[in-house]
Amino acid sequence: MTEQRQHKTVLLDEAVDALLAGAETAPQGTWIDATFGRGGHSRHILLRLGPQGRLLAFDKDPEAIAEAARIQDARFSIRHEGFRHLADLAPASAAGVLMDLGVSSPQIDSPERGFSFRFDGPLDMRMDTTRGESVAQWLAYAEVGQIAEVIREYGEERFAGPIAKAIVARRQERGPLATTAELAELVAGTVKTREAGQNPATRTFQAFRIFINAELQELQQALEASLSVLQPGGRLVVISFHSLEDRIVKQFIAEHSKEVYDRRAPFAPPKAMRLTALARIKPSAAEVTGNPRSRSAVMRVAERTQVPA
Ligand SMILES: C[S@@+](CC[C@H](N)C(=O)[O-])C[C@H]1O[C@@H](n2cnc3c(N)ncnc32)[C@H](O)[C@@H]1O
Repeated sequence: MTEQRQHKTVLLDEAVDALLAGAETAPQGTWIDATFGRGGHSRHILLRLGPQGRLLAFDKDPEAIAEAARIQDARFSIRHEGFRHLADLAPASAAGVLMDLGVSSPQIDSPERGFSFRFDGPLDMRMDTTRGESVAQWLAYAEVGQIAEVIREYGEERFAGPIAKAIVARRQERGPLATTAELAELVAGTVKTREAGQNPATRTFQAFRIFINAELQELQQALEASLSVLQPGGRLVVISFHSLEDRIVKQFIAEHSKEVYDRRAPFAPPKAMRLTALARIKPSAAEVTGNPRSRSAVMRVAERTQVPA
């Protein structure tokens, strides 16, 4: 059963320490876990919050929402929404925002979710199975140019063109791809060079997952929203699992960690910096040994600066 599959939370203590650092003991404010997953970080945050503290979580996945229902704590609530909806919260209403990006182990290990080439299942890959289009539905009509662009941009795959052509040729000859095994087999037959220790379909699967869930667009929107939602002194903690995500987080923090001069008004005072970059943290060797999935994690921490008077 899917519910019994476990997720080992990555950087558990490090993330919660970074989020709550600077807050008083038993903090009172409202904290955000933007990616509830199986609630590893959320449960840890709740242990540290005071009686008046609040934790608001988000997740797109109905299975995560079902898991959250098991938390019997009046201080906790969850929204079944993408975390871009952080933008709906009142300005300066959050004491801290945590994002632990990507997919959970139960998602990737469930054949019926279609995230992995390791198991055969429907070619779905939606985090939110209650809405939107699956990868199979999209591939049934997408044009070769768009498929190639997605594989190139989000998978950084050298063979994007040949893979896209093979997908469309197969659709014309035998009907659209329906399963993960069909996609994995087609990519393996098209990609001519093998990266050591990596399945040839790794990059294509990553690309389709990022595309179908609009992951990078939603990350950018949520980061922008966090600037308005965070109180001065509030922490933004983001754990990424691949370089495309981490680049966005790194650039976002860098962009807002400096004063910005308006080139069209060179004598006007600069726009104040809105974040202070605090840390970049990787899992310890011990954590990577105990949880190999943590090896690619990078956590970045920034603090919302005081709003100038
Ligand atoms: C790595 S897991 C989080 C694990 C969690 N920190 C824990 O310890 O159990 C990522 C979760 O974020 C969710 N997710 C990913 N992108 C999302 C988005 N844009 N909006 C809301 N939830 C998202 C996924 O459905 C998944 O459940």
